[in-house]
Amino acid sequence: MKFTVAIDGPAAAGKGTISRAVAEKFGFAYLDTGSLYRAVGVKALEIGRGVIDPVVAARVAGNLSDTDLNRDDLRTGMAGQAASKVAAMPPVREALLEFQKDYARREGGAILDGRDIGTVICPEAEVKIYVTASDEVRAERRQKELVPDKPDLTVGQVLIDLRARDARDAARDVAPMKPAQDALLLDTTKLSIDAAVAEALALIQKRIG
Ligand code: DC
Repeated sequence: MKFTVAIDGPAAAGKGTISRAVAEKFGFAYLDTGSLYRAVGVKALEIGRGVIDPVVAARVAGNLSDTDLNRDDLRTGMAGQAASKVAAMPPVREALLEFQKDYARREGGAILDGRDIGTVICPEAEVKIYVTASDEVRAERRQKELVPDKPDLTVGQVLIDLRARDARDAARDVAPMKPAQDALLLDTTKLSIDAAVAEALALIQKRIG
């Protein structure tokens, strides 16, 4: 059985939490595609010692190992910015394309979250959900996640960072962040985690029939 759920939306809207819950409930494989771009961004930063070199980034994108994908430092704010920068480079997206497309159509069902899943990676996905939340709420959520490692980090700083990243992700020429025409919109601004997950599960259940 092939069944794909595409979850897109801006940073910290709740995509990961929803995706993990859906994967568990329906037994689907789950791919957090942001971690691919984060792994490329972090490696490119290292190799370029602070400057992201497009050629290096593209070469790295085609050669990611499991170790690269499981690095502890992928979740930092700096990794997020680096990911957003390499993600705007067409050769990087090209190098990661086939892997994601194959993952989406694997047997047994799959859920992928990112920015271009419903538009580019799997336009034929059976369910597409675009998850959003207000900028302020997203910044508060992300600050709570990051503050254990960065105690001085303020919500205001995270807000600036998120807005810069969203603007870059939405404005790039290749595979910009946007809802697919047939995506269902899920605004999690006023929802608890449980309520957001319940809404997503209900939307999918309805499509499954
Ligand atoms: O989902 P995330 O915050 O971990 O993603 C990090 C960056 O990677 C994001 O700012 C843009 C990029 N990205 C992308 O361009 N396309 C995707 N499908 C997933 C992430």
